[in-house]
Amino acid sequence: MTGVGIFGFGRIGRNLFRLLHGRSDIRVAAISDLAEPAALAYLLQFDTLLGRFPEPVSLEGGRLRAGALSIPLLAGKDATAIPPWRDLGVHTVFESTSRGRTRAEAEAHLAAGAKRVILLAPPLETPDVTVVLGVNDAAIDPAQRIVSNASSTVQCLTPALAILDAAFGIRRAIFTTIHSYTSAHRLADVPVEDKRRGRAAAENIIPQASRSPAMVLELLPALRGKLTGYAMNVPVSNGSVVDLVCWHEKPATKAAIDEAFRAAAASDRWRRVLAYEDAPIVSSDVARSPYSATYDSLATMTLGDRVSKTLSWFDSGYGYAQRGIDLVERYAALEAR
Ligand SMILES: NC(=O)c1ccc[n+]([C@@H]2O[C@H](COP(=O)([O-])OP(=O)(O)OC[C@H]3O[C@@H](n4cnc5c(N)ncnc54)[C@H](OP(=O)(O)O)[C@@H]3O)[C@@H](O)[C@H]2O)c1
Repeated sequence: MTGVGIFGFGRIGRNLFRLLHGRSDIRVAAISDLAEPAALAYLLQFDTLLGRFPEPVSLEGGRLRAGALSIPLLAGKDATAIPPWRDLGVHTVFESTSRGRTRAEAEAHLAAGAKRVILLAPPLETPDVTVVLGVNDAAIDPAQRIVSNASSTVQCLTPALAILDAAFGIRRAIFTTIHSYTSAHRLADVPVEDKRRGRAAAENIIPQASRSPAMVLELLPALRGKLTGYAMNVPVSNGSVVDLVCWHEKPATKAAIDEAFRAAAASDRWRRVLAYEDAPIVSSDVARSPYSATYDSLATMTLGDRVSKTLSWFDSGYGYAQRGIDLVERYAALEAR
């Protein structure tokens, strides 16, 4: 049984909690967030995207009660401001606050007794490893302490790039992530440093710079100099999609591309992270999808014999949190050996 701490109980933190509820191999040993405990309990109980929590939720003297579970609910801006993880039975900390973290901030969790920190936001400094399951599972080593779960876009995009590169080679690639809005966006226009980010998210298509190319190149260094892309936030509360255009080394027909993704989705390597879809889905159809990417076969296009355009869908909260939990499982399996 692995005890985990959830540091940041927002959308990602609550997805983690719901995914872990009822599991016997991983237990939530503590939660920390700066918000009022009553507000945190309320948002676990009632969730616009996930619906009502299936069991009663209440507060009991500094603890969150959810069904039969009673979990310490802490508040501190970093690991030094809460009781040490070692006293709470926390082996792994999920860093799921709305802030990217430096190494020193991640190391503070280790100094407080955690054995590992899984960063669920792109880190500000190089972690011990960035893992995208299916892409670099072999890089996982129990000695790693600060582990980045990349971003939800990277979790979706990198498998598509790896599959296309293996089948047809990639000379150049440009992606656009069409992303649902999150708490980082605003409901009405406000003045912020990133001017576009301050515009009303439910009323605009908002172009945004993406940090994904740098993370993808760490994972697929052969694509250095060949890949770029950006994001567009759109007025959708959940369900996102990566639109990927590639120029290939070898001829690529629609049928051959479909077959490459169909075979990949059925393989042991990609089964857990990639789904193949041949129904006419739209964004809401991937809500609560545990996959990193759902390949949309009906959307695939080619131009001439060496340019392809594919769509891969994802739930940026649920699927991304599921990958973080998969990491705990992978490390636990290696540590058990
Ligand atoms: N939502 C997505 O689709 C998505 C996908 C992939 C990755 N991510 C990443 O996941 C992270 C969390 O995103 P989210 O959507 O869950 O954000 P969120 O809903 O805003 O939740 C973040 C939570 O962390 C709390 N928090 C902030 N600073 C804290 C601190 N120092 N200590 C403890 N709690 C703190 C926030 O409290 P306050 O509200 O009081 O500040 C909030 O409750 C972000 O870094 C984001 O980049 C998000």
